[in-house]
Amino acid sequence: MQDPVDRSRRRFIFQTGVGLLAAASMPAWVRAMEMHGMPKLTPNRASPAFKPDVEIELAARQGSISILPGQATRVQHYTAKLLSGPKDTLTELPSCYLGPIIRLQKGQKVRIHFRNDLMEPTITHWHGLHVPALMDGHPMYIIDPGETFVYEFEVINRASLNIYHPHPHEITARQVYYGLAGGLIINDEEEARLELPSGEYEIPIVLQDRRFNAQNQLIYGPHMHDRMMGFYGDRILVNGQPNAEFEVASRAYRFRFLNGSNARIYKLGWSDGTPVTVIGVDGGLLESPETFPYVMLAPGERLDVWADFSGRPKGTELTMRSLPFSGVLPMMAEHMMGRGGRGGMGGGMMGGMGMMGAMALPVGSDYPLFKIRVTRETGESPKLPSRLSKIDRYTLDDVANPSKPVPIAISESPMAMLLNGRSYAFNDIQPFERIPLDTVQLMEIFHTSGGGHGMGGMGHGMRGRMMGMMGGHGSEAQEEGQGMGGMGMRGGMGMMFSMAHPIHLHGDQFQIISRTVAVDRADSYATVKDGLVSSGWKDTVLVMPGETVRMIKPFHHFKGVFMYHCHNLEHEDMGMMRDFLIE
Ligand code: C2O
Ligand code: CU
Repeated sequence: MQDPVDRSRRRFIFQTGVGLLAAASMPAWVRAMEMHGMPKLTPNRASPAFKPDVEIELAARQGSISILPGQATRVQHYTAKLLSGPKDTLTELPSCYLGPIIRLQKGQKVRIHFRNDLMEPTITHWHGLHVPALMDGHPMYIIDPGETFVYEFEVINRASLNIYHPHPHEITARQVYYGLAGGLIINDEEEARLELPSGEYEIPIVLQDRRFNAQNQLIYGPHMHDRMMGFYGDRILVNGQPNAEFEVASRAYRFRFLNGSNARIYKLGWSDGTPVTVIGVDGGLLESPETFPYVMLAPGERLDVWADFSGRPKGTELTMRSLPFSGVLPMMAEHMMGRGGRGGMGGGMMGGMGMMGAMALPVGSDYPLFKIRVTRETGESPKLPSRLSKIDRYTLDDVANPSKPVPIAISESPMAMLLNGRSYAFNDIQPFERIPLDTVQLMEIFHTSGGGHGMGGMGHGMRGRMMGMMGGHGSEAQEEGQGMGGMGMRGGMGMMFSMAHPIHLHGDQFQIISRTVAVDRADSYATVKDGLVSSGWKDTVLVMPGETVRMIKPFHHFKGVFMYHCHNLEHEDMGMMRDFLIE
């Protein structure tokens, strides 16, 4: 098939030739890139015709930040400088490794000079933003130490909280873990009219988990086991701080949650049982506020929460917790952890696992995230608007493929987490991954194993169709997945490895139209299902074991290569990632 990136051709061939000769003396990452046929492109330069409203200098560099008492922690982090544009474009989070919050307005033209001051390649992706393919931070655009990539794009997204983070193939997880991430807020007029809490009353809350050694240095060394489940810390950091507390007035706040963890999934709930009022998700405001007993937040997802402390007397304390749930790890792992797999509270469940010995904070257990302390009483508070925004809901009448959804098949085994039966490879676009520009597509995410029973004919039909589409290109991995015993794989072994995956799609945001779960997974699903926010615009969706999610996604504005992948970053680096080619 045709190379979607023509200008890469020459250098790609050149590099491949050199690569073969010099492989032995090259650092591991170079060899990895060569093996995946990843080109080395000339970094994009500023175009004189582009007249930016905002111009920023952004750098990824090594540094040292005081996180725990005592010795400072070596990190990798983003720093930024505003070259031109509104003064409030950049906001630093105090003594924090996270990059500054970048605040942009819909319609602004933005130029970002991104310099790599690390000692390894990187590239930055604007998670949630819809920008031209060249500006999307695809791993093919990685730059070497000392190089600068110039991004130029117009903000076409609606008001929303997004993320900027690295996206180099096979080292994204480590770079994010060591601190490379930041929040990117878009504002627009529709949102401004609502006069939502702002300034000190709008609080970004970035949730992450980390492991530190005795010298306060970050530990990251995923074993095979960690790669399969994702890498979990034993300590929660909120905006880069341990034991986070916020002092508030007795009024309404806007809490803007972002899960910046590599793998950890949270079940957010107030300690006193107050319902959680959600006003927005990944792609911005909902049509109207919705309340939940708790809300799920998977890596890469965002939540806009209305937190009203009106009427709470000075001295009130409240804790945001992650509440107990089950089913997101492979059943085999849950059994090994001695919790019986279903509905357990998770107390000390990992204790018996040597390889997870450091994991004092099991995913799905009950633990505090941060504390709220009311320190000032006030009688004045904004009221929660009953209408927030206008969302045109897509229906099956709008899609180009009502009876033939674009498949995103999840297959799981200890050795490989795959999408559509294939591990990531550059320029490996399959026929069903080519999508005509300016179409609206029905898509379906499903498990090829672990959801066999109870999915009925649709499940089997989908599987059959996916395999049919793949025709003669059967990969080994696919054969492994299918060959592990047919029914046995689906009903038995396969289920043992089935787990939750936050699936993220680059490009336009999508709408979720249905979620169904296999009956044999209903018990654990019941511990999360009332906290899944499925309305509004999304770019990342938590897909539980045995779950099938249907969504409708427009493919507008830009041709080119846009990724889809698991946002469990260890899975992503393992190759649970693919490209769509919009053409
Ligand atoms: Cu947040 Cu492709 O990533
Ligand atoms: Cu995954």
